[in-house]
Amino acid sequence: MKVLVVGSGGREHALVWKLKQSPSCGEIICAPGNPGIGKLADCFPILAADTLHLADFAKEQAVDLVAVGPERPLANGLADELQAAGIPCFGPGEAGARIEWSKLFAKNLMLKWGIPTAPFAFFNDPSKAKDYIRKKWAAGQQVVVKADGLCEGKGVYVPESEEEALRAVGIIMTEKKFGLAGEWVVVEERLFGQELTIQAITDGRKLVILPPARDYKYRNAGDKGPMTGGMGAYAPVPIATEQLLAEIKETILQPAIKGFACEGIAYRGVLYAGLMIVEGKPYALEFNCRLGDPEAQAVLPVIDEDILQLFFATATGNLTEDRIISASRSAVCVVIASEGYGYKQEYPNQVITHLDWAADILKEDGFVFHSNTKWQNSKLVTNGGRVLTVTAWDKSLVRAGSLANYAASKICFAGSYFRPDIGYQTLHYQRST
Ligand code: AMP
Ligand code: GLY
Repeated sequence: MKVLVVGSGGREHALVWKLKQSPSCGEIICAPGNPGIGKLADCFPILAADTLHLADFAKEQAVDLVAVGPERPLANGLADELQAAGIPCFGPGEAGARIEWSKLFAKNLMLKWGIPTAPFAFFNDPSKAKDYIRKKWAAGQQVVVKADGLCEGKGVYVPESEEEALRAVGIIMTEKKFGLAGEWVVVEERLFGQELTIQAITDGRKLVILPPARDYKYRNAGDKGPMTGGMGAYAPVPIATEQLLAEIKETILQPAIKGFACEGIAYRGVLYAGLMIVEGKPYALEFNCRLGDPEAQAVLPVIDEDILQLFFATATGNLTEDRIISASRSAVCVVIASEGYGYKQEYPNQVITHLDWAADILKEDGFVFHSNTKWQNSKLVTNGGRVLTVTAWDKSLVRAGSLANYAASKICFAGSYFRPDIGYQTLHYQRST
C-alpha cells in the first residue's frame, strides 16, 4: 500500500515510524512532514490545513490510504474531500470532527446520550458567564472555563480562585485570545480525580481500544503552570483495569458512536476520550477526533500490531470485532519544549545538538520524535513550541521513565525545557512497592 500521512508534529513522526514497520506498507509519504519524518519518508510542502490541495495531491499520488494526524484538516473537511475522490481516509469528516471543534456540540452530545460528564453551562455573553461563575463560587463550587472552538489544547483554564476564573472569561471573550474559537465559553464544574486518555479506533460500528495513556498537560513539574498541548505521557496506565475499560466502553465510547450513527454521521478514525476517574467512575472531560500528541508517541510504541491493516480496515468501514489491544511493554515520552512555551515568548531558531548521544543511550529501546524542528543553513534548529519528544520503552515503566529522562537530558538547545516528573504517580507507586 502507498500511504500519505498528513501533519508535521511528533504524533505524525510516530505515525510514520509505526506505519513503516507494517509488512503491507509499500511506500510512505508525508505532507508537510518535518526533518525527523524526512529520514523515513518523502515529505511534500503542503500545509495540513490546505485541504483542497492535499486532496488533489493524494489523487495525483494515487495513494491507497491517507492517515490524518492533526484535528485542523479534519475540521476543514479533508476526509470529505478524500471520500468524494474515492480515497480511504483514516480520520472522520467535518461533521464527526465537530466533537472536537465544538465543545458546545460535544457537551450536548454527552447530555443527549447520557455520557457522564461535569455539569456545565454555555455563554456567549461575558457578563452572564461571570455572573454564573460568581454564583457557583459563592456556593463553594470551583469551575473550569473553556473556549468552545479549536485552541491547540490551550483554551482551557483551571482557575484556583474566583478572580482567575473571571479573568479567564475576559481573556477568551473580551480580549479574544483565541479569536472566533472563543465566541462561546463553557463553564463547567471542576472534577477532582485521576486523568486518563482512552483512544479507540472506530469505523462507526466497531471499537478497537488502544492501550490507555496518561498525558501531562500542565507545563511545569508537579502539574503547575499553564495548560499546554501536553508535556509528556506514559502508557499503559495501571488504574485502567479491564473492568474500568469495559465501563468506559459501555458508558462513554459506545453512546458517542451511537450518537453519530443516529445523526447519520459516518465516523471513521480515532475517538479520543479525555477522562477524569473520580472515585473509580469515569467522566468525559472532552472528546478529540484524532490521536493525542504526545499520547501517540507513548502508545504507538507499545502496540505489537500491524496498524496499517487496522487503519485501512477502519477507513473502509471493515472492522470485524470490538476488542482491546493490550500493551506489550510500557513507554514514557518526555517533550522537550522551547523556552517560554506555555507562557508568552517562544524562542525559535536555536541550534539543536547531541541528538546522537540521546540515540546512543536509547539504542533499540527508544526513539527521538521531532515535534517542531526545521533545517536552517544545513543546521537542525528549533521552530518554537514543543520541539522534540523522547520516548523510551521497557517491560518496567520505571526503567522506561529513567531512560527517557536520561536521554532527554543530553539533548541541547538554548532555553530547552522538559518536565522531569512524567509518570510520577505510577513511578513513585512502583518504586515504593
Ligand atoms: P479538555 O481540553 O476539555 O480536556 O481540558 C484540558 C484539561 O483541563 C484536562 O486534561 C484537565 O486537566 C483539565 N480539565 C478540563 N475539564 C475539567 C474539569 N471539569 N475538571 C477538572 N479539570 C478539567
Ligand atoms: N495531548 C492532548 C491532546 O492531544 O489533545
